[in-house]
Amino acid sequence: MKMKSLLSAAGAFALALAITSNNAMAADAKKGKEAFEQCSACHDVESGEKKMGPSLKGLYKKGKLHNGKPVTDANVQAVIDAGGNGMPPYADMLSGAEKADLLAYLKTV
Ligand code: HEC
Repeated sequence: MKMKSLLSAAGAFALALAITSNNAMAADAKKGKEAFEQCSACHDVESGEKKMGPSLKGLYKKGKLHNGKPVTDANVQAVIDAGGNGMPPYADMLSGAEKADLLAYLKTV
């Protein structure tokens, strides 16, 4: 009996931990919007106009990226990491969480 309640206490603790770390991991579009300020010099998300880079308005509603790959989190993040053709590489400039927030934000534009 004692053992059982100890076990369920451990279970509840593990669950609480899982929930907290899940929350910490959850992408936050609001934070992504803030992070996007460093991208907005080159990327519009409202008018659809091209700046230095293509407008990212409706990016996730488009079928394909400029490089011909389908618009998925992995492919968009690959572009952000690698940059190229006038875009700086962000692989070391943004944390994984910041990139996840950015992707969450880009889905809202
Ligand atoms: C100095 C200007 C500049 C900055 C800053 C910049 N980009 Fe770019 N970005 C570009 C250019 C130019 C391209 C087009 C590259 C090409 O044609 O291959 C591009 C392409 C992209 C694409 C691919 C779009 C498509 O339709 O294929 C994505 C996504 C993107 N950028 C996201 C971002 C994000 C997110 C940030 C901020 C973390 C950012 N960019 C910062 C210039 C910039």
